Amino acid sequence: MRKLMLAGCLAAAAACQQPAAKKEAQALLPAKDTHTQSNADSIRLPHLDLDVAVDFDRRRIGGVATWTVENPHKLPALHLDTYDLTIDSVLVDGTNTAFTLDSAVQYLGSRLNIPLTPEATKVAIWYKTGANATALQWLEPSQTLGKKQPFLYTQSESIYARSWIPCADGPGIRFRYDARVKVPKQLLALMSAENPRERNDSGIYHFKMEQPVPAYLMALAAGDISFAAIDQRTGVYAEPAMLQKARYEFEDVGKMVGAAEALYGPYRWGQYDVLVLPPGFPLGGMENPRLTFCTPTIIAGDRSLVSLVAHELAHSWSGNLVTNATWNDFWLNEGFTVYFERRIMESMMGADYADMLWELGYQDLEEEVAAIGKDSKDTWLKLHLEGRDPDEGLTSIAYEKGAHLLRLLEESKGRAAMDTFLRTYFDSHAFKTMDTEQFLRYLDGHLLKGDTTLHIDAWVYGPGIPENCPRAPQARFKKVDEERARFLEGAAPATLSTNGWTSHEWLHFLRKMPRPLTYAQMEQLDKTFGFTQSGNSEVADLWYIMSVAAVYKPAYPAMEAFLSKVGRRKFLTPLYGEMMKTPEGTAMARNLFSKYRGNYHPLAQESLGKLINKQ
Ligand code: BES
Ligand code: ZN
Repeated sequence: MRKLMLAGCLAAAAACQQPAAKKEAQALLPAKDTHTQSNADSIRLPHLDLDVAVDFDRRRIGGVATWTVENPHKLPALHLDTYDLTIDSVLVDGTNTAFTLDSAVQYLGSRLNIPLTPEATKVAIWYKTGANATALQWLEPSQTLGKKQPFLYTQSESIYARSWIPCADGPGIRFRYDARVKVPKQLLALMSAENPRERNDSGIYHFKMEQPVPAYLMALAAGDISFAAIDQRTGVYAEPAMLQKARYEFEDVGKMVGAAEALYGPYRWGQYDVLVLPPGFPLGGMENPRLTFCTPTIIAGDRSLVSLVAHELAHSWSGNLVTNATWNDFWLNEGFTVYFERRIMESMMGADYADMLWELGYQDLEEEVAAIGKDSKDTWLKLHLEGRDPDEGLTSIAYEKGAHLLRLLEESKGRAAMDTFLRTYFDSHAFKTMDTEQFLRYLDGHLLKGDTTLHIDAWVYGPGIPENCPRAPQARFKKVDEERARFLEGAAPATLSTNGWTSHEWLHFLRKMPRPLTYAQMEQLDKTFGFTQSGNSEVADLWYIMSVAAVYKPAYPAMEAFLSKVGRRKFLTPLYGEMMKTPEGTAMARNLFSKYRGNYHPLAQESLGKLINKQ
């Protein structure tokens, strides 16, 4: 408590040094997005017409992006974001126009400058993507399940849309779109839009997104993909060999949408489908509107990892409907979504189940704060990413510290008041942008009403885990703690009471083991519970990390098989990181990375490359 009060006093003292009027004016200005070089805050771009072809032989996308322009201030030029794009020509209202492309700024790319006539309404840009397109992962047939057709998908968040579409690439800039996409005849194309259900023989697909979305939610996938309906408005897309497994795993997704609506109001995007990607996908999931992209590593066979779908679905409100204004406000997207995800899981599975998710999340938060440093500004909810790659903001802070702040609000104001507050928040800001300061004002006006006892500023503009951080009750994990303790006191694994444990209980069981365990302990656990062969990717990843720490070599072949195909950064970074702790492990990491890096996403290759090659 003392610490919190001190932080409050310091903030108050700093504020006193500024005249009140100036401070107020600053707070009301919309946040400046330093990660776009476009001027779409002054020139409106309400609509995109995209007409592109996907060329697997040359590994590029090319065609024309036509923007509808509204230029009320008659600015002389439109500036757009591009990254490694070749611009072939630009037509303004049909007239060929001399454009310029600035030299590239690190990770921001090259600003495209297009002179405008005062009455210009359409800007058509003929372009193709480059070899370093950060949004694109091109897969050889061998990297897919079916092994016969290639696969392409995009990942645009946070600032990669500019590497496949010339656009105003800031989360605060929204537009509607139509698209025509040509792919090889054997493939189906899908977008974050109204989608086809079946392949056709022309290879040409038409898409429409009628709700305005920011560029980071632009998405495209092409591959040997089929569809299975779950219910009237939900379904799953996957490679044919994965389709039935995925359909089984996601059986409850229809109910999930209903549960989400019961919490925070209507689902406003029409259809909700999930696309299961090949294993190289660098993320767990991505909330592309109408079509969540997800990793196949959540298809565990027992529906134990579907909270990830609840998370991506929840973004249909927090993020896609009410969007963080800049990447400094990322916690407004992710913290809200984690809170919402756990509320959905609670309504589907009960409070004791959701409490396990909360506790695992809290453990992630503790670990992240320790890794970043408890006094670091990077543990504030409001980030400082000016002059930095927004990827640096992608930590558990936005997710878990953000979610725990909302849990604190719920616990202190009551669930009924919290739910009314959130529902009204989503309704009154639908299809709009939100920054941290605007949210804090809204929170004060609608829920806190002058109550300062929660010290919200210490969460948003202060480091570490605040002292009033809530902690979920631990009914189910208490039993796990007891069984772990018995094992560590020498009980044989077969005598432990593990009946009915979900993967969350197993995770908690393993996470809190001393590291390293002895070889004999690893062997005993493995013989009884078969962790090395676990079909649950979360459990397997953790077990491999423990195996590296304990030099438990019987797990290495399975670990290598895992690393040879799984590209999910959340799994790869800690596992390679554990190897890097010893000279023997470093040699193993370098060898495995050089063998399998080609199966990872370009951005994962880059970040792992840095991890593995640092001295
Ligand atoms: N929107 C994020 C993914 C993201 C964030 C991509 C920032 C690029 C930049 C997505 O909703 C997400 O959070 N995915 C998580 C899974 C989730 C259950 C925590 C992931 O991929 O691990
Ligand atoms: Zn998310």
